[in-house]
Amino acid sequence: MKPSRFPARLAVVAVALASAGSILLYAQRPQRPPAPPKGPWMNTSLSPDERADLVLKEMTLDEKIALLHGVGMPTDDPVTPENAASNRGVGYAVGVPRLGIPGIDMSDAAYGVRSSQANGRYATALPANVAAAAGWDPDAAYEYGALIGRELRAQGYNMTLGGGTNLTREPRNGRTFEYLGEDPILAGTLVAKLIEGTQSAHVIGDIKHYAFNDQENGRNSGNVSIDKRAGHESDLLAFEIGVTKGHPAAVMCSYNRVNGDFACENEWLLKDVLKKDWQFPGFVVSDWGGTHSTEKASAAGLDEEQPGKFFYSDKFKAAVEAGRISQAELDEHIHRILRSMFAVGVVDYPRQRAVVDPFAGFETSRKIEESGIVLLKNNKDILPIESGKVKSIAVIGAHSDVGMISGGGSAQVDPIGGSAILPPGQGATHWQQQIWFPSSPLKAIQQRAPGAKVSFDPGVDPVAAAAAAKGADVVVMFAYQWESEGMDLPSLALPNYKNGDKDVDQNAIIEAVTKANPHTVVVLETGSPVTMPWVDAPQAIVEAWYSGSDGANALGNVLFGSVNPSGKLPNTFPKSDADLPHPTISKPQAVHFDGPVSPETWAKGLPPFPINYDEGLKVGYKWYDAEKKPVLFPFGYGLSYTTYGYSDLDVKTGDTVTVTFKLANTGKREGAEIAEIYAELPASAQEPPKRLVGFTKVKLGPKEKKTVTVEIDRKYLSIWDEAKNAWSLVPGEYTFLVGGSSDKLPEKKTVSLQ
Ligand code: BGC
Repeated sequence: MKPSRFPARLAVVAVALASAGSILLYAQRPQRPPAPPKGPWMNTSLSPDERADLVLKEMTLDEKIALLHGVGMPTDDPVTPENAASNRGVGYAVGVPRLGIPGIDMSDAAYGVRSSQANGRYATALPANVAAAAGWDPDAAYEYGALIGRELRAQGYNMTLGGGTNLTREPRNGRTFEYLGEDPILAGTLVAKLIEGTQSAHVIGDIKHYAFNDQENGRNSGNVSIDKRAGHESDLLAFEIGVTKGHPAAVMCSYNRVNGDFACENEWLLKDVLKKDWQFPGFVVSDWGGTHSTEKASAAGLDEEQPGKFFYSDKFKAAVEAGRISQAELDEHIHRILRSMFAVGVVDYPRQRAVVDPFAGFETSRKIEESGIVLLKNNKDILPIESGKVKSIAVIGAHSDVGMISGGGSAQVDPIGGSAILPPGQGATHWQQQIWFPSSPLKAIQQRAPGAKVSFDPGVDPVAAAAAAKGADVVVMFAYQWESEGMDLPSLALPNYKNGDKDVDQNAIIEAVTKANPHTVVVLETGSPVTMPWVDAPQAIVEAWYSGSDGANALGNVLFGSVNPSGKLPNTFPKSDADLPHPTISKPQAVHFDGPVSPETWAKGLPPFPINYDEGLKVGYKWYDAEKKPVLFPFGYGLSYTTYGYSDLDVKTGDTVTVTFKLANTGKREGAEIAEIYAELPASAQEPPKRLVGFTKVKLGPKEKKTVTVEIDRKYLSIWDEAKNAWSLVPGEYTFLVGGSSDKLPEKKTVSLQ
């Protein structure tokens, strides 16, 4: 399938930068001197808004216009005078050097800095965002963001394009791995921390793709229909929390239309909700090629066009000169951009390129993966594997001799030394190429079981794989589902893949292996949930997601028990596609333009096609609960090598609602339990059966018991009242449910709330 992306960039990005020429160019390019501190706006005791106004007064019309747009893809050759000073990431806005305002240098950085092989710097790959979400750990989310911020800065960037927060409404979305699950409170809480972490490194943080860009099929043309209440209580709530708690300097508006208008010229989304209701003081940047007009977009609240300058350069200037866009409107855009630069510190702390040591990030990456791995099944405690006792282990499938897979698209991080399944030296990655990180599960297992015979079979032929499995004490069988921006999964089934001219049916291989040897641990490397027709056959199932730079060691530590698994699913695993709100994913007639496209044609956009989110409020577990559909593994579910007990729930009401309970580790091993708090709203609220309203991750030694207190924001108990255009708490009886999984909530207490 051709990628439906902004025309100019397409697949050439990584290829162009891979050349030795561009590396040389980097080596020879002189370092930019730090911006000269000039003018009263350099007085750091003034507020970002005051400083921005002082700079604004000095700026010419041309300087203002230059800050409103990109300069083409800086990754594309040749280097132009406009992008010469850029770091050659994916976006750049020239600054105002005479006033000490640096250019804004942008790189994608969903789970690490993108395309860094080309400039010879490399980056740490963290586990996919969905894996971090499975850790349910705000502190870890901060570390995740902070590491990305530090590496961006060291590579010469001062703005990230990370912060993906679209809810998993459609789990076949090819970007599910880049997002933070199906619950708005979980996703919003985590992205807020991630943004805080990134901005702590004086790098402009962003949150994307605002909003309802919940599938990739037809993302440039889809017109999402959703009512305002459902919108506010689902996807928008995740963004609201991210924006109001994480204070990102930038919001990226998405490609799709929402209720008729493109998101980047949608007054409801940008002006009414984001800027007015949430009081967002930063700037809105279009997704790449997501700008479709000048006056309309400007009036609706789009502050910056990226990566080009079709609408926000000459056309914008002409509109200002002709009075079609007021000076005040222009100044508001500029003020927002400048105040964000001051607020984050990109003016006061100019970037200094440094040599990134990507190995330094391995420990953080490994720990986040360790806390995000989800143990889905563990019959007869086959896990952890006892290294002193096990005599033979058969490792099978999914290139597990050499590596672990990663997610593709603009999120792709270049693996150090190149993809594990390619000849050495091919470090730069290509658009929608499956990339395997050189982190070998086979080696990690061998190291942890030095006394055992550890064999490997590629898992491409059911008969050979069954023979390899037969007789081993333990089989560790790997299976994967690869996904990427620019495409959706055809279904949640584990995909078949090609090996030479052979079609490998992963489900058939798992069936053959588990039949030959039931002492099998299936390890999944996926971004989205998968269906498992074989679920009863293996003794254990482990979800390892896309596991980052040091994934194999994290997995090894969990399999052999030096780490006790504590992750819980941020997405429901349904039994089949037929159980989803939309059994088939909506697809447009035309998913992309054929051939090169003029900006005028692009501006008009592809004809809209309907994406009807008529499940409304019922996203993820709320859908399965409401529709009474049994699932394979529920939201919030995950096992541990120890057990936990909940008791003594108490709920106190006041300005906030305080939930207190006792949590005990009833087993023999130290562990960390994610305690989940749900609420059932009064019937008159007409809500799905229950919603997550709070959570906390608690570390407990063997037999240790702690009193746990969680404050619940009343907004999280409220509904969106369309008539009042505000959150509103419906007076009545609220039942609080507490436990370790959305389907297992042993503690229950009902209180009255007004
Ligand atoms: C993606 C964004 C990304 C941008 C720049 C777009 O196609 O949707 O997530 O940040 O490209 O690469």
